[in-house]
Amino acid sequence: MMIAVDGPLASGKGTIAKALARHFGLPHLDTGALYRATAIAVIDAKIDPADAGAAAGAARALDITAIDEDRIRTAEAGAMASRVAALPAVRAALYDLQREFALRPGGAILDGRDIGTVICPDADVKLYVTANAETRADRRWRELTAQGDPISYQTVLDQTRERDSRDTGRADAPLRPADDATLLDTSSLSIDAAIAAAIRIVENAQNA
Ligand code: DC
Repeated sequence: MMIAVDGPLASGKGTIAKALARHFGLPHLDTGALYRATAIAVIDAKIDPADAGAAAGAARALDITAIDEDRIRTAEAGAMASRVAALPAVRAALYDLQREFALRPGGAILDGRDIGTVICPDADVKLYVTANAETRADRRWRELTAQGDPISYQTVLDQTRERDSRDTGRADAPLRPADDATLLDTSSLSIDAAIAAAIRIVENAQNA
């Protein structure tokens, strides 16, 4: 079973994908981590993010077993990830790795922005997880505040809107629901309720 989970920043897609992976016993790939790790490599090597060739080189050289989980979760990594993710050469450099993961014989679950549209157009189940920008910014702001970041809610909301417009507005593989995706709006759902709804969607697709 190949499951694609897409959605914008802080929609809950990562939490839902992890929970589905546990529930159905499938390996899970967080594809945003690949773009974030590429961003860190670009920052560390002082590569100009406008230099698509050099950024794609950094993507190809990624060692996914050596990703620094703490560093890739910073706001700096997220902002740079959104820039390098707009480069077609970087997306092409990360394609094979994602596709190979998706084709694992026992099945797989991938979450990201273009899984249902580009990486796994042939997925058995496609979920598009969303929530309004205010709710997503509030979730992200609470996470950052809990980590000790003094950032204001308004700044996080502005950053969320900026990131949304970059992810949905880019020419190559923009964020959008696949035509055959099931939409799951988590704006007014608890985490547990959102996970339960996602499990039902997958089970319905299995039984269809
Ligand atoms: O989901 P995330 O916040 O970790 O993703 C970081 C950035 O990477 C985000 O701005 C969009 C980009 N991304 C992408 O373009 N395609 C994916 N499949 C996953 C992430």
